[in-house]
Amino acid sequence: MKLRGQDLPRFRRKLQEWFSGQRRDLPWRRTKDPYRIWISEIMLQQTRVAAVIPYYESFLERFPDVRALASAPQEEVLRLWSGLGYYTRARNLQRAAREIVERHGGEFPRNLEDALALPGIGRYSAAAILSIAYEEPLAVLDGNVARVLARIEAIRGDPRESARWKRLQQAADALLDGRAPGAWNQTVMELGATVCTPRAPVCLLCPAAKWCRARQLGLTDVIPEKRCKRKPIQLLLAAAVFTDRNGRTLLVPPRDATAGEEVSPLFSRMWQFPAVHVRRDAKPELRRYLAEEFGTAALKTAELEALEPVRHGVTFRAITISAFRVRVPRLPRSAGSRSIELGNLTKLPVSNLTRKIARAATAPGRPG
Ligand code: ADE
Repeated sequence: MKLRGQDLPRFRRKLQEWFSGQRRDLPWRRTKDPYRIWISEIMLQQTRVAAVIPYYESFLERFPDVRALASAPQEEVLRLWSGLGYYTRARNLQRAAREIVERHGGEFPRNLEDALALPGIGRYSAAAILSIAYEEPLAVLDGNVARVLARIEAIRGDPRESARWKRLQQAADALLDGRAPGAWNQTVMELGATVCTPRAPVCLLCPAAKWCRARQLGLTDVIPEKRCKRKPIQLLLAAAVFTDRNGRTLLVPPRDATAGEEVSPLFSRMWQFPAVHVRRDAKPELRRYLAEEFGTAALKTAELEALEPVRHGVTFRAITISAFRVRVPRLPRSAGSRSIELGNLTKLPVSNLTRKIARAATAPGRPG
């Protein structure tokens, strides 16, 4: 059955009934506050719902409105984002909060052009926020929604190719229920997240099955076409976990991108253990690096004890970190470094990678 004429209202009704019955109770679905919806949409970019929920709640407790976010120290914003990844999102969020206070009287703009002018807001986020918060008739299109629509319309090929993406956007625009755009967009997102999944979609439970061309043609396995995955770049790092007698360790500060220093993309400009890219032999290369940073005196008698290697993936990088514990009577110092309890790193903004290294150093069975 094609989605034309009389059938379109039936299709919409069927999907909306399904959404009313099946929608997950998520914290950002209990509000119409544009600020809260904005925060949720930024957190949900590139991050799963289950991972977002606790961050969403503590972030909003600390920054209950746009003015609180705009006036907070950046380090505090990063600390609450710490562990969620893709930290540019947090920096952009705060820059946007300041613009909203300065230019829009503290209210998230309703107008698409104004929303798109804010840092960190692209077509997808703008459509999601404006439709959910203000019922603006803008259809969302992201990877999830594209999969649902490509299947319904049996659109073959890579959905991310520009001509095909435009066609999918047109399909999204045509299907959008202009009377309830926020609920409609969430219906299609929900279908993609829970039923029309990338592998093994649950067509038997799908309210769109009757209209789904891919299903009629037996093509749900090949639509959407899988993207050729870029081969991950392998990177080797060595990191030092200094510890003194009081269980304190040393972290070095975020590098300043504007200072022209090489910023390791691996640490996302967060507080981190002293670390260096290595080629092959992590231990001597790390020792050389530490001697340059902290002076040879600090390391004279210190042993580098190997910890369990840590693996970490960030977009197209596969990182292996050889971490070493370095026991010292007193922590050395370098410019801006800080000492902090090893078990209490999250007082500072640190990335997941740094947390994983700390876990390797505090793992049971490791002599403390
Ligand atoms: N992913 C992106 N936006 C979402 C939303 N509003 N609800 C659930 N998952 C989402």
